[in-house]
Amino acid sequence: MTKNKMKRRDFIKGAALGTAAFMAYPSSRVLGANERVRLGVIGLGARAQELVKQVLAIPNVDLAAVADIYTRRLDEAKHLSTSLRTFDDHRRLLDLKDIDAVIVASPLHIHCRHFLDTLAAGKDLYSEKTMTWSVAEAEKCLAAAKGSDRIVQIGLQHESSGSLADAKKWIGEGMVGKVTHVQSWMSRNSPHGVGQWVRPVPADCNPQNVNWKAFLNGRKDRPFDANKFINWRLFWEFSGGNVTENMVHQIAWIISALDLELPTVAYMSGGVFSEPDGREVPDTIAVTLDYPKDLVVTWQSTFSNSHYGLGEHILGNDGTIEHIAGETDMVTGRSASSIRYYPEKVNRPGGAALAGNSRDQDHMANFIDCVRTRKPPNAPVDIGYRSAVAAHMANLAYRRKQRVTLEMARTAEDMS
Ligand SMILES: NC(=O)c1ccc[n+]([C@@H]2O[C@H](COP(=O)([O-])OP(=O)(O)OC[C@H]3O[C@@H](n4cnc5c(N)ncnc54)[C@H](O)[C@@H]3O)[C@@H](O)[C@H]2O)c1
Repeated sequence: MTKNKMKRRDFIKGAALGTAAFMAYPSSRVLGANERVRLGVIGLGARAQELVKQVLAIPNVDLAAVADIYTRRLDEAKHLSTSLRTFDDHRRLLDLKDIDAVIVASPLHIHCRHFLDTLAAGKDLYSEKTMTWSVAEAEKCLAAAKGSDRIVQIGLQHESSGSLADAKKWIGEGMVGKVTHVQSWMSRNSPHGVGQWVRPVPADCNPQNVNWKAFLNGRKDRPFDANKFINWRLFWEFSGGNVTENMVHQIAWIISALDLELPTVAYMSGGVFSEPDGREVPDTIAVTLDYPKDLVVTWQSTFSNSHYGLGEHILGNDGTIEHIAGETDMVTGRSASSIRYYPEKVNRPGGAALAGNSRDQDHMANFIDCVRTRKPPNAPVDIGYRSAVAAHMANLAYRRKQRVTLEMARTAEDMS
């Protein structure tokens, strides 16, 4: 019997018994409240190295194994722990029976494969955002997660923020009224001649040290290109640009605050205006997303001016929520971060202005807690899915120079 048939048969048998998930994933173990959680990492690049620091600060968590296709990363892994096992193929890491959960922080175009393989191996999953590179992949990952009992947390850490808790509270208490418009923006700058995100290519980045075919992950074969391997973010084949790097965080926050489903229509304009350094993905962006029930969400971004940092304005007929992070204070020049509520005096004459005070939760600690308790995490697969589809609809609109409906996005074969 093949492994897949075996899994399917067990799944059906388990479903009849009401224990589908445990039968389907015989390798999963049930952890006690204080038991050690053993983690593996797939893709130990810049982001994963930050996540590892967060993980190692959580009590009773072991970093047990790392898989990467670049020898430099496996050498770096050995400095993290002497007992760490390293692999040049993520499937060997997933074969380990003593790994409970896996962090996926590979480039965007490989997320889907690592997501599906991790769940198929019966491991819990922390997958970096954006959940997938395309709409079709987002559908596949959603279906896989729904058919599994594994914990899935997406690396959308704003979902664990105190600002989101405050916004949800004010909206839930009816203080904002009917929301017809949400404005959001994100802005950065860099020195003249230095493109945002551009990383130097290390001297050892060559075909001997990198499994280029594994990086391509089914993309058209071609000779090794060190710049594309290191700076994959700048190219459509591997990335969704700033929409999947940053808009996705804010859209997920807005989706959660207002409990939104999927957009009906997306528009996007922009271009490579800040540093035309060979990149394909735009640095200047204006996205408009139409949502059901009379709501328009806009997101603007530039890489040539950082003055206003990032933020969201939720505009309702009874009140306004203003969330800003990194906006430069006009007088002091210092960076500010706050969430505030302002009543619309015309409809809430007695309402008072408020400042939010909920504390941020540690997004990684929330994941580890859910691995032990089996509670739903703060950024579950549904948020990963809805934010990914919104991002991909916007990018499709930009690339096609067209208004893109949800139906068009769902039938898109790829992202071009
Ligand atoms: N949540 C956040 O705030 C946040 C911040 C930064 C990055 N990210 C996300 O993290 C992910 C990684 O970004 P990064 O900046 O660390 O990229 P990176 O290029 O620094 O790291 C990617 C790593 O994956 C490895 N890799 C490539 N193909 C692989 C394969 N087939 N199998 C195993 N490993 C493979 C590379 O060798 C590299 O070490 C992206 O999805 C990015 O959007 C999230």
